[in-house]
Formats: sequence, C-alpha cells, structure tokens
Amino acid sequence: MTTIRLSDGIVKDDVLVVGLASKSAKGSLQIESGDLALDTKSLLQTLSDLGATGKADEVIKIPGNSTRLLVFTGLGKSSSKYENEVLRRASGAAARALAGNSSATFSLPAKDKHSIRAIGEGAALGNYAFSTFKGSTKSAQKTPLKSITIHSALASIAEVKDEVKSAEVIARYTSLVRDLINTPPSHLTPETFCSVISDAVKEAGGASIGLKVSVMTESQLKSKGFGGITAVGQGSVNPPRLLNISYTPKSVKPSKKYAFVGKGITFDTGGLALKPALGMEAMKSDMSGAAAVCAATIAIALLKLPVAIDTWAPLAENMVSDTATRPSDVITMYGGKTVEVLNPDAEGRLVLGDALVKAQEEKDLDGIIDVATLTGAQVVALGTRTSAVMTNDDEFSSHFLKMAAHTGEAFWPMPLPIELRASLDSPVADMANIGERMGGMLVAGLFLKEFIADDLPWLHLDIAGPAYNEGQPHGYTPVGGTGIALRTLVALAELSE
Ligand code: BES
Ligand code: MN
Ligand code: ZN
Repeated sequence: MTTIRLSDGIVKDDVLVVGLASKSAKGSLQIESGDLALDTKSLLQTLSDLGATGKADEVIKIPGNSTRLLVFTGLGKSSSKYENEVLRRASGAAARALAGNSSATFSLPAKDKHSIRAIGEGAALGNYAFSTFKGSTKSAQKTPLKSITIHSALASIAEVKDEVKSAEVIARYTSLVRDLINTPPSHLTPETFCSVISDAVKEAGGASIGLKVSVMTESQLKSKGFGGITAVGQGSVNPPRLLNISYTPKSVKPSKKYAFVGKGITFDTGGLALKPALGMEAMKSDMSGAAAVCAATIAIALLKLPVAIDTWAPLAENMVSDTATRPSDVITMYGGKTVEVLNPDAEGRLVLGDALVKAQEEKDLDGIIDVATLTGAQVVALGTRTSAVMTNDDEFSSHFLKMAAHTGEAFWPMPLPIELRASLDSPVADMANIGERMGGMLVAGLFLKEFIADDLPWLHLDIAGPAYNEGQPHGYTPVGGTGIALRTLVALAELSE
C-alpha cells in the first residue's frame, strides 16, 4: 500500500515531480510547479534542448539542484485550471516512471481539495505493480514508490487531509481489483475469489465497520434453483459460488440503499462454443465486474459513507468438458424463467440473471447496478477505453454519468431498443441466451432487463474493453487489470442525496 502525505514545507524527498505544459503558440513550454517556486529560466532551456513537448504521458527526468531527480510530467495545453483527470493522469504517469525510487514529492498546480485528491489518486494508482508470480526474476523488478508526498499550501486543512485519505482508500481497493484480475485462473477460482474477498473484508474491520460476508456453495445453489450459475459452472472441477457482501453504515441512517451485482467468471473459455486460442488468455479478466463491486463495497464501508450496499458476485469458471452445458440445453434460472442456452459463450448474462433476481429480494432498494465484461460488441462499439451504461431510468443514468465525469472514468450511454428484444425469443423456452448479432451489447442488456422489476432504477455497465489493458500503460492505467468502475461506484455512494 502506498502512503500519501501532505506537506507545505521544504521538500524532503530526493525526487521532485512537477508539471510541464505547452503554450499554444510556438511550441513554448510552461513549468507548472504548483505552490513551489522554481527557478524556471535555465530549466526551460534544458527542457527545450531535450526536445520536451509537455504532452500527456511524457515524463522527463533530469538531475535536480535541491533534489537528486527533478521530474517533469506532461499536462498537455497550459491552462489556468487543469482538469482533475489531467492531474490524475500526469501524476500517474510520473509515479509509474519512478518505480525503483523510494519516495517522491509531487508539486503540481492544484487549486482546491478535489485537485489535490486527484493528484493523490493518480500518483497512487500509477504506482502499481503486479509481481506476485515473478519467481527467480523478482529481484530484477523495480519496486513501486513506498511513499508519495503532495506539496501544497493547503496541506494543513482538515478537509484536504480527508480527501487524501480517501485517495489512499481508492488506490488500495483499486489495487485489490487489479490483483484479482491479474491473478491467473490457476490461482483464482470461484472458491479462492471468495476467500480473498473474505480476508479483505476482515482486514478492513469486518462487522466493526458494518460489513458482512456470506457464500453459497454449489450444492446450496443447486438446491435453491440458481440454474444460471450452476449451468455455467458445471463444466469445471472448480465449482461455482455466489458471494454476498452487505454493508450497513454504523450509527447513521442510510440515505440510499443500492444493490451491486458483478460478473465473476474466473475464466471464460467459451465453453463448448470454445473461443479461439488467440487472445483467450485475456479471459482471466472476466471476473472484473465482480472484483470491482466487491472492492468498491469495502472501500465504501471504510470511508463510512451513509448508504447501504448489498453486493452480489456470481462466480463460475466457464470450461469445456463432458459435463459442460450443451448448445440447446434448457435451464431454469433463479426465479423460474427458462432459458435455452444456444451459445454457452454467452454465459455472463446467465450468472447475472440469477444474481439480479436474488439481489431484488432485498426490499426498498433505491437502485441496482450490474457491472460486467459482458460483450465483445462493447469493445467494437466504444473501443478499449470507454465503458457503456444501459438503463431503464434516465435520471439514475444521468446521475451516474455525472459522477463518472468527476472520477475521470469514461462511460457513455447506450440505448436498449425494444425492437431487438424479439430476437431473444426461443421456440422451446421463455428466452434464448443469444439474439440478433448486430448490436450485441444492447441485446445482452435487453436479456438482463428481463430480470429487473419495471419500477426499480437499474444500470447495466458493460466494461468488456476498459477492464483489461492489453496495450501500453498510460496515465495511471497499468497493463492488465485496470480497476474500472470502482471509483464511480464509490462516488455514487459519496454523493447520494
Ligand atoms: N467475456 C465475454 C465478453 C468479452 C469479450 C469480454 C472480449 C472482454 C473482451 C463474454 O462472455 C462473451 O463471450 N460474449 C460473447 C457473446 C456472444 C456469444 C453473444 C461475445 O461477445 O462474443
Ligand atoms: Mn463468454
Ligand atoms: Zn464471459
């Protein structure tokens, strides 16, 4: 865990990070060192000699005068008020580039507590490495910074300190999401997912902070009629689970009560609709939704936010075997709907259908949100960095999108066109698990909608692309698991009236 400190005094670390922006005219540069005065004249000459541009994701290290290293991180176009996401990314890129150093002070242009939090979040999120499975090469790995200090004239203000504490919690639980995603299916099964989360809940304080965990085993799922979860899990030697975490705030009446549901496929081979070998390894990330909702719930509890959260993670491994679900099998979902499984690779909606129905047994919910790496069509439609939001309640969706704009997570609204619904009709069961191929993300959303009560505000977040970064690291986003959706789920709990 990275600790974040605040300081308004002299810089004690031997690494100092400041911003570098480009002024629109003539490619000239502007050093943005926040509340710390720097002698910029000679530095600007050096930077221009080095070919610095100040663009986002550019990190330049030079020997410092008062510190061992002076680091310039790109802010893009110069501005009188940088967007929080610009600060988050610039801090993240710098922290990532500083692996191997022990501590650094960040002095960037921050005008208020929100921008200071963004710097803290970005730096701590960028300061991530996954080395659990490095064996003999572990010592060659550069270790992340052990401490991060934010330099600001506002350092001693209580509210600023609180925001920095929140940034620490966000970073810590985003790391948990990333670790779970990056852990290979040889080491992450439905059962071990449950024990990692149970341990994390205990470590956070468990019942003393209002958290309770329970797990349903395969035999319990079978006897209670969770036909979706068991059908998806039945081809694997690693049996399915349904994990539940509930959070009830201590000593305040919750202002809202939400249910979170996250897709938890610990590995998706496609089942008997086997996926091609090329790229299948990325399907270890198919539990990203489950990891995000569980970690968000713990973070919300640690932040003592005044909302009640009931979180469900249906967990299964979608494998190929003589016990796997066959195309054309008919299953009975929790609640009684029958589904013809035409394609066992459309498994996420099956485990989610069960869990969504279970979640709605809780009375007086103000809303329900599912998070899932649900469709390849999501990636085709929006690319790898923008997630989709589908809903039955535009007001809930607008509120969520507003929160997402604050946290810097890219979400975009998508429709649920009713004319696509008929494509899910089945001649033998209540529904088929696949329909029209075109608009596949929306068809999947329409399938889930069948499991939602008409009058319950619902959001479906398809994070298939953004959950897992198969490209280059950028900003505060590493390669592999990203932790997308956690920050906005927490923000929703932070700012719910
Ligand atoms: N887990 C996949 C979706 C996915 C694809 C996530 C790419 C991340 C990156 C999901 O279970 C799946 O296989 N969906 C199918 C549905 C189809 C059979 C209707 C798909 O998108 O191809
Ligand atoms: Mn699949
Ligand atoms: Zn899947």
